[in-house]
Amino acid sequence: MKSLFDKFLPLEETRAELIASSGADPFHVVVERVISATEAMVNGRKVIMAGTNNYLGLTFDPECVAAACTAIREEGTGTTGSRMANGSYAAHVALENELTRFFNCPAAIVFSTGYIANLGVLSTLTGAEDVILLDADCHASIYDGTRLGSAQVIRFRHNDPADLEKRLKRLDERARSTLVVVEGIYSMLGDRALLREIVDVKRRYGAYLLVDEAHSLGVLGQNGRGLAEEVAVEEEVDFITGTFSKSLGSIGGFCVSRWPELKYVRYAMRPYIFTASSSPSLIASTRKALERLHHGAELREKLWDNATRLYQGLAAMDFTLGPEISPVIAVRLPVSAGVAPALWGELLSQGVYVNLVLPPATPKGGSLLRCSLSAAHSHGQIDAMLDAFALIRDKLQPHHL
Ligand SMILES: Cc1ncc(COP(=O)(O)O)c(C=O)c1O
Repeated sequence: MKSLFDKFLPLEETRAELIASSGADPFHVVVERVISATEAMVNGRKVIMAGTNNYLGLTFDPECVAAACTAIREEGTGTTGSRMANGSYAAHVALENELTRFFNCPAAIVFSTGYIANLGVLSTLTGAEDVILLDADCHASIYDGTRLGSAQVIRFRHNDPADLEKRLKRLDERARSTLVVVEGIYSMLGDRALLREIVDVKRRYGAYLLVDEAHSLGVLGQNGRGLAEEVAVEEEVDFITGTFSKSLGSIGGFCVSRWPELKYVRYAMRPYIFTASSSPSLIASTRKALERLHHGAELREKLWDNATRLYQGLAAMDFTLGPEISPVIAVRLPVSAGVAPALWGELLSQGVYVNLVLPPATPKGGSLLRCSLSAAHSHGQIDAMLDAFALIRDKLQPHHL
């Protein structure tokens, strides 16, 4: 008789084979001790963390830490319920008000994670009569949100406004109840949406636009509001979703909108209603981090300086990289089983932790050694990353580059 677990055996076998052939185990990494925003103990040794999304390095910011400690002492470790059932804490509402001021938008909703924000918004805003037109490289939380809802889902080619236009044209009148979904900076290759062109298309067809600024909040724009601010199209973006778990160094998610009617949607969203609200300490550190981010021009400058140093150093070694300099830097490798995990293991043994991304999670196939930079990295750490990559570069065959 078949067991419920049989279907997982092929996956487990593939993992075991990869571990055996590469001599590295990327599937069971334990961070034994966190030392700072950029360093931790892994496998008994000190490593540079070059795979977290701690873009502004705020996880150990003294003011954020102090705010979280005070909140935990005064309000406890958790809310033990949802905002619908148990009510919002004053700090949830205060953070929503701060987000409306920060984004100059009339409406904001705070969620328990960025994943949940996308689930809630995508599954609820659109109904069975509506259409979601999403960039093919969108994050899993966006795809999952569409699965929870009932709208018709159509993908357009990654970052291709002409393909988006072709599909909107085909929809004819239905374009007016279509939600176009893109990301500010795409999480795998670090490339930016062609937002001006996308805004132009959506405006001409009367569609709505949602931008997930998960990786661009705090990273782009004079005030850190993301790609829409950077390319001056904020007034044309209908919804922005994002996360507190990257540049804000906490956990949580949000949606803001230039439409005050977003408030009608709050109590229709199952992922908002049926989960516990964020803990007081998370909300407190997020509020402090939002202030730091808003006035964080210096941190952004440091982050981009670090990103440029790593990107140019890797490009000079002839690695195939994502298309543009970005705090997300993906070293692209061929699919051949074992190559990428072995190189990942080699980097770790050189004291550098990066993300290993294997197919099918990678766009356009192949595997990625994905680095993400932080304003908290020193030039010395970036150079140590480059030294480690130079070592693996020597082990690669020309056809692997
Ligand atoms: C584009 C994008 N959206 C949403 C999320 C989800 O964020 P969270 O970690 O807060 O659930 C992520 C996280 O990786 C992401 O990359």
